[in-house]
Amino acid sequence: MIKFFLFLLILTSCNKNNDKEINEKLIIMKKKEISGEINIANGKNIFNGACATCHLYGTGGSIQLKDKIKWDKIIQKKPLDEIYNNVLNGYVSENGYMPKKGACLSCSDQDLIDAVNYIFSINGIIIEN
Ligand code: HEC
Repeated sequence: MIKFFLFLLILTSCNKNNDKEINEKLIIMKKKEISGEINIANGKNIFNGACATCHLYGTGGSIQLKDKIKWDKIIQKKPLDEIYNNVLNGYVSENGYMPKKGACLSCSDQDLIDAVNYIFSINGIIIEN
């Protein structure tokens, strides 16, 4: 569903108001879900088990774990909720494709958020509750 909206955003430049509304709704929804405690140690375990396949070396067009310049750019370009959503729902960029939940179907939303926060913490970006 989300991928469909993403394609709509890319393929159609008309009807922008409608697309924006969809996006904002998504973000607000996510804000409620990210109310849990941040657990970087859990995030590290999740990263090593699920995300490292791609993000340790930047395989498949992903961003390498320690590529601070690229992670900084992501953080500056997008709201945090949008970044979390992209991991939870899957993400297509010009560089590659990330499956839904970063391919960790057994992970909870909080696990995935912890994993994202772990990536950021490695790059000196600290997310507070
Ligand atoms: C199959 C490979 C693959 C796996 C597994 C994967 N990712 Fe990704 N990830 C990607 C690709 C490709 C991108 C897009 C990179 C780009 O062009 O910005 C991406 C982007 C991201 C982004 C940036 C999203 C944005 O809004 O720009 C985050 C954060 C992220 N991944 C976290 C994770 C986490 C956490 C996991 C494990 C739970 C994970 N990824 C697993 C391939 C993967």
